[in-house]
Amino acid sequence: MNKLQGYLGILATPIKTSPPFPEKAFYAYLSAAGKNLGIPVYVFLPNQVDYTTKTVIGYLYRNKTWVKKKLPFPTLVYDRCSNRKVYGKYIRKIKTIPSITFLAHVLPGKWQNHQNLIQHPGLIPYLPATEVIQSMETVKRWLDDYGSVVIKPVQNSLGVGVIKVTSLVSHTVEGRDMKNKIFHKNFSSRTALIKWLKEAISGNNLIQPYLDLSTPEGDPFDLRVLVQKNETGRWQETARAIRAGVCGGLTSNLCGGGKAYSADAFLQKYFPEEQLVTIHQNIDYLVQEIPPFIESKHGRLAELGIDIGIDKKGNVWLIEINSKPGRASFRKVDGGAFYNKARLNPLKYASYLARRRAAERS
Ligand SMILES: Nc1ncnc2c1ncn2[C@@H]1O[C@H](COP(=O)(O)OP(=O)(O)O)[C@@H](O)[C@H]1O
Ligand SMILES: [Mg+2]
Repeated sequence: MNKLQGYLGILATPIKTSPPFPEKAFYAYLSAAGKNLGIPVYVFLPNQVDYTTKTVIGYLYRNKTWVKKKLPFPTLVYDRCSNRKVYGKYIRKIKTIPSITFLAHVLPGKWQNHQNLIQHPGLIPYLPATEVIQSMETVKRWLDDYGSVVIKPVQNSLGVGVIKVTSLVSHTVEGRDMKNKIFHKNFSSRTALIKWLKEAISGNNLIQPYLDLSTPEGDPFDLRVLVQKNETGRWQETARAIRAGVCGGLTSNLCGGGKAYSADAFLQKYFPEEQLVTIHQNIDYLVQEIPPFIESKHGRLAELGIDIGIDKKGNVWLIEINSKPGRASFRKVDGGAFYNKARLNPLKYASYLARRRAAERS
């Protein structure tokens, strides 16, 4: 394997800890594994780049501690920065440096992703109807049509701010507030509900029909598939796992108290064998079609977390795609068999890009 000329820089989200970034265990793993693959790794922050000296403040993992050091610009960048609102402009500037290659370009918000996905005719049947909320008139119209809807912020993740609104016999709102706490409210009328919603939701939000993505016992669940590029630059499914949320809740994200389960064992409990074959065929289709298609619309990607919902009738729904996928669910399932692979693949793809760069420059 070729040695990378220069560094792979992990572009992290600045936070007020020491060292000042999250996902320390993951980055430490990448640093150690990088050593074996001939890829020197450091962590850096979008706002610690010096354009005059062409250096960054880098954090090297050495002898189980993080060492802060002024280092040259990275050659490759693995972008894990999640606060795009604050750091987007810094990242755009880093992208203007011609000597740097990004492993992937982080996907935009949910609405833009939806706009891209609906351009693939084969994906349309899997996409829940979706609209941007312009005003409370949008919400009223959707409640008339569906009775029960889900509202979610265009930009957030981790289930934060995802709510279910029902206005049929009773008028209720339930879900996750902006601090990701579960809440439940009842209203005496639709007017009272709409009045509350108008105050409660802010920023850009999407509206979708509420899909019954829970087990007969009432636990909401979804299937997370991790698809990654490998050392030959080709897409490959790394692992799939079920995430199941708290009973009676709405979201299945792990950070909201969800648990991870092995996909086959979980689904076998709820669907007969014959139906499972069809479910898996549908999922396989999504896994095969989405990564190259979304890449053709958006630009280079290295990995995708595909969130898939399965309703009680066995219909398969595409809920969300994530270009900075978490890996925690794979640590917990199947004895962690796919966890290291999930963590290592970004480096393998980096080594592929390094080889390609070397070939281009020789
Ligand atoms: N239309 C829907 N109907 C029912 N549940 C939904 C719907 N959309 C999302 N959910 C649930 O909420 C979770 C979070 O929604 P998602 O769109 O993935 O946003 P986030 O970016 O916050 O993860 C999903 O994993 C799923 O469990
Ligand atoms: Mg999600």
